[in-house]
Amino acid sequence: MSVDIRENLFPSDFAWGAATAAYQVEGGWNAHGKGPSIWDTFCHGKGKVFEDQNGDVACNSYELWEEDLRCIQQLGLTHYRFSLSWSRLLPDGTTARINQKGVNYYNKVINDLLACNITPMVTLYHFDLPQALQDRGGWKWAGIAEVFDSYAMFCFRTFGDRVKLWLTLNEPYVCAKLGHEDGLFAPGVRDPGAEGSRQPPGCGCHREIHGLHVRLVCQPRLHDWRLSSHDEVQDRGQERRAGLPAARLPEFEEGEPRVLGTADFFALNYYTSRRVRAVSCPSQSLGFKGDQEAEAEMDPSWPVCGTPWLAVVPYGLRKLLNYIKEACGNPAIYITENGFAQTGPVDLNDSQRSGFYRDTLLEVCKAIREDGVDVRGYFAWSLLDNFEWADGFSVRFGLFHVDFARPELTRTMYLSGREYAKIIMGNGFQS
Ligand code: NOJ
Repeated sequence: MSVDIRENLFPSDFAWGAATAAYQVEGGWNAHGKGPSIWDTFCHGKGKVFEDQNGDVACNSYELWEEDLRCIQQLGLTHYRFSLSWSRLLPDGTTARINQKGVNYYNKVINDLLACNITPMVTLYHFDLPQALQDRGGWKWAGIAEVFDSYAMFCFRTFGDRVKLWLTLNEPYVCAKLGHEDGLFAPGVRDPGAEGSRQPPGCGCHREIHGLHVRLVCQPRLHDWRLSSHDEVQDRGQERRAGLPAARLPEFEEGEPRVLGTADFFALNYYTSRRVRAVSCPSQSLGFKGDQEAEAEMDPSWPVCGTPWLAVVPYGLRKLLNYIKEACGNPAIYITENGFAQTGPVDLNDSQRSGFYRDTLLEVCKAIREDGVDVRGYFAWSLLDNFEWADGFSVRFGLFHVDFARPELTRTMYLSGREYAKIIMGNGFQS
């Protein structure tokens, strides 16, 4: 990696990005042959999401993609991360039926990006399982790994000539915990597990996710493709944390291929930090049961943004990057999400969020320059205000404001967008 020697500048080939996810921005929930996903079903039920809102239209990126592209260009991004809607491509979840209009849509997105010299980073799965697969048991269904494998191969065959940065599963822990233990996310399963159990949350489902991830990254035929997963930290941590609290992932079965060392890079979503200490039989643990656990608490001096879980701790990111460097043998890291939430009345002059991006990126810069962490890129969450899952449109993360009250869904750059663009333009901070 070529590190620029001037003060507080990033490497010359640093990836400057922003991220979105299909269900959160696309809308067009049943347009042109798209099949329903578990989030369509979940949101169409009552009492699941803030004010019963849904992503039927969201930012309408399905129709307004070219406006999104203009936003991307205004920021000066070099990279754009988005996810594919599995059921837009394969309405029943399997390759038995391909929706050509869905393929056309993503071809256009990818081709437009490349024509503007912007590198696409594509997430295969960002929480929106085809409902048809949920009807067969979803992530707990024994056949899911096989079907995901076919879906992934279909995507690689269809888009892989142009897309070289792939992510498998976005935040599988969140899908397992919020979707299959707490019931707060689709598919809305409430299954807290047996008291005193040493199983990870939503274990059955997590086990399947883990299994298919292993299968996917270990396929020799995929070696040409760049793959990573948010699971990786847990896999590696499990091997290096013997003696520490009970491992949270199930053991590999005999003969199952191992993930360790197979990913091309480490994909990190970082939002917040907690102070952690080891305790016995905690009253409030990190969400796992056992006799020796870690108890997590917020430092009262940390400011909180938007939602109560989101303490703003830019230096926590530098610490985490250093931890990953030490624990995982200095892998290449992409920060695939990081952002600052806003609630309440819209303020286009979001100076707190602007400060957050400055402070956070300075920490990332120090991690690269002073600590030698191999950070290859940073993706702000998010390009646009969008559908924030169970919080609906009440929580905004965008670099661009979206006026959801108007049918035009006008995009307007926040002050934080201008700040981010300035940092990108200077490739860091000029002293
Ligand atoms: C991470 C998730 O990947 C994304 O979908 C979500 O909007 C952000 N966290 C903010 O909560």
